[in-house]
Amino acid sequence: MKSQEIRATFLEFFKSKQHLIVPSASMVTKDDPTLLFVNSGMAPFKEYFLGNGTPKKSRIADTQKCLRVSGKHNDLEEVGYDTYHHTLFEMLGNWSFGDYFKKEAIAWAWELLTEVYKIDKDILYVTVFEGSNDDDNLEMDTEAYDIWKQYIAEDRILKGNKKDNFWEMGDQGPCGPCSEIHVDIRTPEEKAKVDGKTLVNEDHPQVVEIWNLVFMQYNRKANGTLENLPNKHIDTGMGFERLCMVLQDVKSNYDTDVFTPIIREIETITNTKYRVEEKQDIAIRVISDHVRAVAFSIADGQLPSNTGAGYVIRRILRRAVRYGFTFLDKKEPFIFRLVDILSKKMGQAFPELKAQKQLIE
Ligand code: ALA
Repeated sequence: MKSQEIRATFLEFFKSKQHLIVPSASMVTKDDPTLLFVNSGMAPFKEYFLGNGTPKKSRIADTQKCLRVSGKHNDLEEVGYDTYHHTLFEMLGNWSFGDYFKKEAIAWAWELLTEVYKIDKDILYVTVFEGSNDDDNLEMDTEAYDIWKQYIAEDRILKGNKKDNFWEMGDQGPCGPCSEIHVDIRTPEEKAKVDGKTLVNEDHPQVVEIWNLVFMQYNRKANGTLENLPNKHIDTGMGFERLCMVLQDVKSNYDTDVFTPIIREIETITNTKYRVEEKQDIAIRVISDHVRAVAFSIADGQLPSNTGAGYVIRRILRRAVRYGFTFLDKKEPFIFRLVDILSKKMGQAFPELKAQKQLIE
Protein backbone atom coordinates (compact mmCIF):
# COMPACT_ATOMS: atom_id res chain seq x y z
CA MET A 1 0.00 0.00 0.00
CA LYS A 2 1.40 3.40 -0.92
CA SER A 3 1.74 6.01 1.83
CA GLN A 4 -1.00 8.18 0.29
CA GLU A 5 -3.40 5.28 0.54
CA ILE A 6 -2.32 4.41 4.08
CA ARG A 7 -3.09 7.95 5.22
CA ALA A 8 -6.40 8.05 3.35
CA THR A 9 -7.44 4.67 4.77
CA PHE A 10 -6.90 5.88 8.32
CA LEU A 11 -9.06 8.95 7.76
CA GLU A 12 -11.75 6.99 5.93
CA PHE A 13 -11.91 4.47 8.74
CA PHE A 14 -12.56 7.09 11.38
CA LYS A 15 -14.98 8.92 9.12
CA SER A 16 -16.97 5.69 9.05
CA LYS A 17 -16.98 5.86 12.87
CA GLN A 18 -18.60 9.30 12.73
CA HIS A 19 -15.44 11.36 13.12
CA LEU A 20 -15.05 14.77 11.54
CA ILE A 21 -11.87 14.80 9.43
CA VAL A 22 -9.91 18.02 9.80
CA PRO A 23 -6.70 19.22 8.13
CA SER A 24 -3.47 19.29 10.11
CA ALA A 25 -3.11 22.42 12.21
CA SER A 26 -0.07 24.61 11.65
CA MET A 27 3.05 23.17 13.24
CA VAL A 28 3.94 26.58 14.59
CA THR A 29 2.12 27.30 17.83
CA LYS A 30 0.75 30.75 18.39
CA ASP A 31 -1.28 30.70 21.55
CA ASP A 32 0.61 28.27 23.76
CA PRO A 33 3.55 29.66 25.73
CA THR A 34 4.44 26.13 26.94
CA LEU A 35 5.31 24.92 23.41
CA LEU A 36 7.44 26.23 20.52
CA PHE A 37 6.02 23.75 18.01
CA VAL A 38 3.18 21.28 17.88
CA ASN A 39 4.78 18.14 19.34
CA SER A 40 1.81 15.79 19.17
CA GLY A 41 -1.55 15.41 17.51
CA MET A 42 -3.37 16.58 20.61
CA ALA A 43 -1.54 19.89 21.09
CA PRO A 44 -3.87 21.89 18.81
CA PHE A 45 -6.83 20.52 20.81
CA LYS A 46 -5.41 21.16 24.26
CA GLU A 47 -7.99 23.77 25.23
CA TYR A 48 -10.83 21.34 24.47
CA PHE A 49 -9.37 18.81 26.89
CA LEU A 50 -9.06 21.47 29.54
CA GLY A 51 -12.70 22.41 29.04
CA ASN A 52 -11.91 25.91 27.76
CA GLY A 53 -13.61 25.54 24.42
CA THR A 54 -15.88 23.30 22.37
CA PRO A 55 -14.70 21.43 19.27
CA LYS A 56 -16.81 21.37 16.08
CA LYS A 57 -17.61 17.74 16.81
CA SER A 58 -16.96 15.46 19.77
CA ARG A 59 -15.17 13.01 17.43
CA ILE A 60 -12.32 14.25 15.27
CA ALA A 61 -9.54 12.56 13.26
CA ASP A 62 -6.62 13.94 11.28
CA THR A 63 -2.96 13.62 10.43
CA GLN A 64 -0.98 16.24 12.29
CA LYS A 65 2.47 17.58 11.43
CA CYS A 66 4.57 17.30 14.58
CA LEU A 67 8.05 18.49 15.42
CA ARG A 68 9.95 16.91 18.31
CA VAL A 69 13.09 18.95 18.64
CA SER A 70 12.71 20.92 21.83
CA GLY A 71 11.20 20.67 25.29
CA LYS A 72 9.88 17.47 26.83
CA HIS A 73 9.76 15.51 23.57
CA ASN A 74 13.10 15.95 21.80
CA ASP A 75 14.41 13.34 19.36
CA LEU A 76 16.88 15.50 17.40
CA GLU A 77 20.11 13.73 18.31
CA GLU A 78 18.67 10.29 17.41
CA VAL A 79 17.67 11.39 13.95
CA GLY A 80 19.80 9.89 11.23
CA TYR A 81 21.52 7.45 13.57
CA ASP A 82 18.48 5.25 13.93
CA THR A 83 15.86 4.33 11.38
CA TYR A 84 12.65 5.30 13.14
CA HIS A 85 12.93 8.73 14.81
CA HIS A 86 12.29 11.99 13.00
CA THR A 87 12.30 15.68 13.64
CA LEU A 88 9.12 16.19 11.65
CA PHE A 89 6.66 13.35 11.45
CA GLU A 90 2.99 12.85 10.84
CA MET A 91 0.86 11.68 13.69
CA LEU A 92 -2.39 10.04 12.71
CA GLY A 93 -4.90 10.61 15.45
CA ASN A 94 -8.48 10.13 16.53
CA TRP A 95 -10.05 12.12 19.34
CA SER A 96 -13.00 11.84 21.57
CA PHE A 97 -13.86 15.01 23.45
CA GLY A 98 -15.97 13.72 26.30
CA ASP A 99 -17.53 11.19 23.88
CA TYR A 100 -16.28 7.56 23.69
CA PHE A 101 -13.55 6.26 26.00
CA LYS A 102 -11.31 3.20 26.40
CA LYS A 103 -13.62 0.50 25.06
CA GLU A 104 -14.17 2.07 21.65
CA ALA A 105 -10.66 3.49 21.33
CA ILE A 106 -9.13 0.04 21.83
CA ALA A 107 -11.70 -1.79 19.70
CA TRP A 108 -11.25 0.58 16.75
CA ALA A 109 -7.47 0.62 16.96
CA TRP A 110 -7.50 -3.17 16.85
CA GLU A 111 -10.03 -3.32 14.04
CA LEU A 112 -8.10 -0.85 11.89
CA LEU A 113 -4.73 -2.53 12.38
CA THR A 114 -5.77 -6.15 12.08
CA GLU A 115 -8.84 -6.11 9.83
CA VAL A 116 -8.35 -3.09 7.59
CA TYR A 117 -4.56 -2.88 7.32
CA LYS A 118 -4.41 -6.63 7.93
CA ILE A 119 -1.39 -6.58 10.21
CA ASP A 120 -0.71 -10.05 11.56
CA LYS A 121 -1.84 -10.22 15.20
CA ASP A 122 1.21 -12.28 16.03
CA ILE A 123 3.53 -9.35 15.51
CA LEU A 124 1.66 -7.07 17.92
CA TYR A 125 2.18 -6.33 21.62
CA VAL A 126 0.27 -3.87 23.76
CA THR A 127 1.13 -2.13 27.01
CA VAL A 128 -0.96 -0.83 29.89
CA PHE A 129 -0.09 1.46 32.79
CA GLU A 130 1.04 -0.43 35.90
CA GLY A 131 0.33 2.42 38.33
CA SER A 132 2.77 4.47 40.40
CA ASN A 133 3.81 4.67 44.05
CA ASP A 134 5.11 8.23 43.88
CA ASP A 135 3.38 11.49 44.82
CA ASP A 136 0.77 10.95 42.12
CA ASN A 137 -0.09 7.56 43.60
CA LEU A 138 -1.91 6.26 40.54
CA GLU A 139 -3.63 2.90 40.21
CA MET A 140 -2.91 0.30 37.58
CA ASP A 141 -5.14 0.64 34.51
CA THR A 142 -7.00 -2.65 34.99
CA GLU A 143 -9.85 -1.39 32.82
CA ALA A 144 -7.61 -1.16 29.75
CA TYR A 145 -6.05 -4.52 30.64
CA ASP A 146 -9.45 -6.19 30.75
CA ILE A 147 -10.51 -4.68 27.45
CA TRP A 148 -7.29 -5.76 25.71
CA LYS A 149 -7.82 -9.32 26.99
CA GLN A 150 -10.76 -9.62 24.63
CA TYR A 151 -8.49 -9.06 21.63
CA ILE A 152 -5.02 -10.30 22.37
CA ALA A 153 -3.40 -13.12 24.36
CA GLU A 154 -2.52 -12.07 27.89
CA ASP A 155 1.17 -12.80 27.45
CA ARG A 156 1.21 -10.03 24.85
CA ILE A 157 -0.23 -7.43 27.24
CA LEU A 158 2.72 -5.90 29.04
CA LYS A 159 2.66 -3.59 32.04
CA GLY A 160 4.57 -0.35 31.71
CA ASN A 161 5.74 2.35 34.07
CA LYS A 162 5.05 6.04 34.14
CA LYS A 163 7.78 6.87 31.64
CA ASP A 164 6.17 4.76 28.93
CA ASN A 165 2.54 4.49 29.97
CA PHE A 166 1.53 7.82 31.41
CA TRP A 167 1.48 10.44 28.70
CA GLU A 168 2.02 14.10 29.42
CA MET A 169 2.10 16.84 26.86
CA GLY A 170 4.71 18.89 28.75
CA ASP A 171 5.44 19.94 32.32
CA GLN A 172 1.89 21.17 32.51
CA GLY A 173 -1.33 20.30 30.74
CA PRO A 174 -3.67 17.42 30.00
CA CYS A 175 -2.37 13.92 30.68
CA GLY A 176 -3.41 10.39 31.50
CA PRO A 177 -2.50 6.71 31.43
CA CYS A 178 -1.93 5.25 28.01
CA SER A 179 -1.80 1.96 26.14
CA GLU A 180 0.76 1.59 23.39
CA ILE A 181 0.69 -0.80 20.47
CA HIS A 182 4.06 -2.14 19.37
CA VAL A 183 5.09 -4.18 16.34
CA ASP A 184 7.84 -6.76 16.10
CA ILE A 185 9.01 -6.86 12.47
CA ARG A 186 12.17 -8.90 13.02
CA THR A 187 12.85 -12.03 10.99
CA PRO A 188 11.54 -15.41 12.24
CA GLU A 189 15.13 -16.44 13.05
CA GLU A 190 15.63 -13.38 15.23
CA LYS A 191 12.28 -13.95 16.90
CA ALA A 192 13.23 -17.53 17.71
CA LYS A 193 16.39 -16.33 19.44
CA VAL A 194 14.99 -13.47 21.51
CA ASP A 195 11.43 -13.18 22.77
CA GLY A 196 9.83 -10.01 21.35
CA LYS A 197 8.27 -9.15 24.72
CA THR A 198 11.69 -8.48 26.19
CA LEU A 199 12.40 -5.91 23.47
CA VAL A 200 9.31 -3.74 23.82
CA ASN A 201 10.32 -0.18 24.78
CA GLU A 202 13.99 -1.18 24.70
CA ASP A 203 15.02 0.94 21.68
CA HIS A 204 15.14 -1.96 19.24
CA PRO A 205 14.78 -0.58 15.69
CA GLN A 206 12.41 -3.34 14.64
CA VAL A 207 10.37 -3.64 17.79
CA VAL A 208 8.77 -0.24 17.86
CA GLU A 209 5.74 1.54 19.13
CA ILE A 210 3.36 2.45 16.36
CA TRP A 211 0.29 3.77 18.16
CA ASN A 212 -0.36 5.33 21.51
CA LEU A 213 -3.86 5.49 22.95
CA VAL A 214 -4.03 8.05 25.72
CA PHE A 215 -6.89 8.06 28.18
CA MET A 216 -6.96 11.73 29.13
CA GLN A 217 -8.38 12.33 32.52
CA TYR A 218 -6.00 14.63 34.42
CA ASN A 219 -4.48 18.06 34.17
CA ARG A 220 -0.92 18.49 35.46
CA LYS A 221 -0.89 21.86 37.18
CA ALA A 222 2.05 24.28 37.37
CA ASN A 223 2.71 23.20 40.98
CA GLY A 224 3.12 19.58 39.80
CA THR A 225 -0.12 18.16 41.21
CA LEU A 226 -2.80 16.38 39.19
CA GLU A 227 -6.41 17.45 39.07
CA ASN A 228 -9.25 15.63 37.34
CA LEU A 229 -10.33 17.09 34.01
CA PRO A 230 -13.99 18.07 33.74
CA ASN A 231 -14.51 15.17 31.26
CA LYS A 232 -12.69 12.06 30.07
CA HIS A 233 -11.23 12.12 26.58
CA ILE A 234 -9.37 10.01 24.05
CA ASP A 235 -6.17 11.18 22.38
CA THR A 236 -4.46 8.75 20.07
CA GLY A 237 -1.32 9.13 18.01
CA MET A 238 -0.01 6.72 15.40
CA GLY A 239 3.39 7.30 13.82
CA PHE A 240 2.56 7.49 10.13
CA GLU A 241 6.08 6.78 8.84
CA ARG A 242 6.37 3.74 11.14
CA LEU A 243 2.99 2.45 10.02
CA CYS A 244 4.20 2.79 6.42
CA MET A 245 7.31 0.79 7.34
CA VAL A 246 5.15 -2.06 8.63
CA LEU A 247 2.65 -2.02 5.77
CA GLN A 248 5.31 -1.68 3.07
CA ASP A 249 7.20 -4.58 4.61
CA VAL A 250 10.51 -2.77 5.02
CA LYS A 251 12.79 -2.47 8.05
CA SER A 252 13.38 1.25 8.16
CA ASN A 253 11.15 4.32 7.87
CA TYR A 254 13.67 5.61 5.33
CA ASP A 255 12.91 2.65 3.04
CA THR A 256 9.26 3.67 2.71
CA ASP A 257 7.95 5.75 -0.17
CA VAL A 258 7.74 8.69 2.24
CA PHE A 259 11.54 8.97 2.10
CA THR A 260 12.88 7.03 -0.88
CA PRO A 261 12.13 9.74 -3.51
CA ILE A 262 14.04 12.29 -1.40
CA ILE A 263 16.90 9.86 -0.84
CA ARG A 264 17.16 9.12 -4.58
CA GLU A 265 17.36 12.86 -5.23
CA ILE A 266 20.11 13.31 -2.61
CA GLU A 267 22.04 10.46 -4.25
CA THR A 268 21.76 12.14 -7.63
CA ILE A 269 22.68 15.61 -6.43
CA THR A 270 25.60 14.49 -4.26
CA ASN A 271 26.74 11.65 -6.46
CA THR A 272 26.59 9.14 -3.62
CA LYS A 273 24.77 5.86 -2.98
CA TYR A 274 22.63 5.14 0.04
CA ARG A 275 23.50 1.92 1.88
CA VAL A 276 27.13 1.71 0.94
CA GLU A 277 28.93 3.48 3.75
CA GLU A 278 27.58 4.01 7.28
CA LYS A 279 28.63 7.66 7.74
CA GLN A 280 27.17 8.64 4.39
CA ASP A 281 24.00 6.72 5.18
CA ILE A 282 23.56 8.69 8.39
CA ALA A 283 24.13 11.94 6.52
CA ILE A 284 21.58 10.99 3.86
CA ARG A 285 19.01 10.13 6.51
CA VAL A 286 19.71 13.36 8.39
CA ILE A 287 19.24 15.47 5.27
CA SER A 288 16.13 13.64 4.05
CA ASP A 289 14.58 14.12 7.47
CA HIS A 290 15.67 17.70 8.10
CA VAL A 291 14.60 19.07 4.73
CA ARG A 292 11.07 18.02 5.61
CA ALA A 293 11.18 19.77 8.99
CA VAL A 294 12.59 22.99 7.58
CA ALA A 295 10.25 23.01 4.57
CA PHE A 296 7.09 22.36 6.58
CA SER A 297 8.11 24.93 9.15
CA ILE A 298 8.66 27.64 6.54
CA ALA A 299 5.36 26.70 4.87
CA ASP A 300 3.70 27.26 8.24
CA GLY A 301 5.30 30.67 8.58
CA GLN A 302 8.29 29.96 10.80
CA LEU A 303 11.49 30.88 8.98
CA PRO A 304 14.96 30.05 10.29
CA SER A 305 16.23 32.89 12.45
CA ASN A 306 18.46 33.60 15.40
CA THR A 307 15.94 33.51 18.24
CA GLY A 308 13.24 31.29 19.72
CA ALA A 309 11.39 28.92 17.38
CA GLY A 310 13.28 30.31 14.38
CA TYR A 311 16.54 29.32 16.00
CA VAL A 312 15.31 25.74 16.42
CA ILE A 313 14.69 25.62 12.66
CA ARG A 314 18.03 27.23 11.93
CA ARG A 315 19.76 24.56 14.03
CA ILE A 316 17.99 21.79 12.12
CA LEU A 317 18.98 23.34 8.81
CA ARG A 318 22.54 23.81 10.02
CA ARG A 319 22.72 20.17 11.14
CA ALA A 320 21.62 19.08 7.64
CA VAL A 321 24.13 21.38 5.96
CA ARG A 322 26.93 20.17 8.23
CA TYR A 323 26.26 16.48 7.45
CA GLY A 324 26.15 17.24 3.71
CA PHE A 325 29.34 19.25 3.88
CA THR A 326 31.28 16.79 6.01
CA PHE A 327 30.11 13.37 4.89
CA LEU A 328 28.79 13.88 1.36
CA ASP A 329 31.49 16.32 0.41
CA LYS A 330 28.97 18.80 -0.87
CA LYS A 331 30.51 22.23 -0.52
CA GLU A 332 27.87 24.35 -2.21
CA PRO A 333 24.22 24.82 -1.17
CA PHE A 334 21.99 21.97 -2.36
CA ILE A 335 19.31 21.29 0.20
CA PHE A 336 16.94 23.76 -1.46
CA ARG A 337 17.02 21.50 -4.52
CA LEU A 338 15.15 18.80 -2.58
CA VAL A 339 12.09 20.96 -2.07
CA ASP A 340 10.80 20.20 -5.55
CA ILE A 341 10.52 16.44 -5.04
CA LEU A 342 9.16 16.94 -1.54
CA SER A 343 6.38 19.23 -2.70
CA LYS A 344 5.59 16.89 -5.61
CA LYS A 345 5.28 13.88 -3.31
CA MET A 346 3.55 15.51 -0.36
CA GLY A 347 1.81 18.50 -1.89
CA GLN A 348 -1.45 16.68 -2.30
CA ALA A 349 -1.81 15.91 1.40
CA PHE A 350 -0.22 19.21 2.43
CA PRO A 351 -1.05 21.88 -0.21
CA GLU A 352 0.91 24.51 1.72
CA LEU A 353 4.11 22.87 0.44
CA LYS A 354 3.07 23.59 -3.11
CA ALA A 355 1.72 27.03 -2.37
CA GLN A 356 4.89 28.10 -0.53
CA LYS A 357 7.40 26.20 -2.65
CA GLN A 358 9.27 29.23 -3.89
CA LEU A 359 9.55 30.80 -0.46
CA ILE A 360 10.79 27.52 0.99
CA GLU A 361 13.43 27.18 -1.72
N1 ALA B 1 -0.51 12.31 22.56
C1 ALA B 1 -0.03 10.98 22.40
C2 ALA B 1 1.35 10.92 21.86
O1 ALA B 1 1.81 11.91 21.33
C3 ALA B 1 -0.96 10.17 21.58
O2 ALA B 1 1.99 9.92 21.93
